[in-house]
Amino acid sequence: MLGNFSYHNPTKLYFGKDSLSYLKDELKNYGENVLLIYGGGSVKKSGLYDKITAVLKESGKNVAEVSGVMPNPTLEKLYEGINIARENNSEFILAVGGGSVCDYAKAVSVSVHCDDDPWQKYYIRFEEPDCKIVPVGCVLTMAGTGSEMNGGAVITNQETKLKIGHVFGDEVMPKFSILNPEYTMTLPEYQMIAGIYDIMNHICEQYFSGEDDNTSDYISEALMKSLIHSSRIAVENPQDYEARSNIMWTATWALNTLVAMGKSTDWMVHMLGQSVGAYTNATHGMTLSAVSLPYYRFIMPYGLKKFVRFAEEVWNVNPDGKTDEQIAEAGLSAMENWMKEIGLVMKISELGVTEEMIESIADGTFIMDGGYKILNHNEIVQILKESM
Ligand code: NZQ
Ligand code: ZN
Repeated sequence: MLGNFSYHNPTKLYFGKDSLSYLKDELKNYGENVLLIYGGGSVKKSGLYDKITAVLKESGKNVAEVSGVMPNPTLEKLYEGINIARENNSEFILAVGGGSVCDYAKAVSVSVHCDDDPWQKYYIRFEEPDCKIVPVGCVLTMAGTGSEMNGGAVITNQETKLKIGHVFGDEVMPKFSILNPEYTMTLPEYQMIAGIYDIMNHICEQYFSGEDDNTSDYISEALMKSLIHSSRIAVENPQDYEARSNIMWTATWALNTLVAMGKSTDWMVHMLGQSVGAYTNATHGMTLSAVSLPYYRFIMPYGLKKFVRFAEEVWNVNPDGKTDEQIAEAGLSAMENWMKEIGLVMKISELGVTEEMIESIADGTFIMDGGYKILNHNEIVQILKESM
């Protein structure tokens, strides 16, 4: 049964090969001082930077820039962006890049006019912004996080080795996002498949909670099937527009809050992955793939009914002659085979985790209570060890 909820997502999307042509019109809605934010250089290499700056120039904007936003953006980098925004009186932020750039832009947007330290306010005390928020627009170059249509902003504090996400409300979500699947074609294969698994895991985090007959679960199953199908085509031929566009669209719907409606949601794989990321700076999607199977095998008995459904509906496991446990395990094995087939990292040791780091990574793992089993510290250590 669906519980009570309200649903609203304010982000306007422009999707497809012509989507950048809408940027000029969108820019008319915002002030003259624009802060352009991008990553480590892929947008310059691909020529997207030139296209965007040409539109900004035609629109008569004064442009300041923050470049070099790294994957897993750091608190130190956040302070830099806040200062540049303040110095330039930025009235609008245009993020051009992947989830890291979009997340970072949102973190800057809620901090520019805020006197408090953003780490303490948003990432330790989890307060909501009570200051003016600078509006953000995104031009996405990597499919995965869903940051283009949600309020998430994940920041890493390198000093304390904590990687924490704050999910802000409607007013922080991008005002618009431009999604052109062609922009994702220049991604290295490693990033493409990491993004694919990030999408898969976002859906799993929401799907593996509750036992209800919930419309969200049917939507999730369709999204997973589309993703698995398109991922195989994209790995075979990364230039396949149809596959890349399906992956991009699935990423947006996997984490724009729709499939969370009526669900308690889990997010433990992300908590484990984020702590691994804080210690290794590894690629987000790979931190998730490397811990997933040990985690799901551990919680499977507590959510057996759902794992059986997952096996039959998503992986077409034939239940004949099998116990529920065998069906559920066959589903996870099918997922494992697909993960290996597309080339995901399956061990945290391959991401730089050593035995000595495990206790600290477990300490940095936030324990969530929306899934099938609330883990304790020792269970987290056990799952991390099995992920080696
Ligand atoms: O920095 P550049 O040079 O642009 O290179 C990036 C980066 O090295 C490169 N890249 C992106 N688009 C490209 C490209 N290279 C060539 N061609 C392109 N078109 O890819 C690398 C990774 O980019 P990044 O933005 O870090 O990847 P992703 O989109 O996976 O974002 C990861 C961040 O998002 C957070 C993660 O924790 C991580 O910090 N997340 C945000 C969420 C949210 N907002 O809801 C949820 C997610 O679960 C996730 O936690
Ligand atoms: Zn993720």
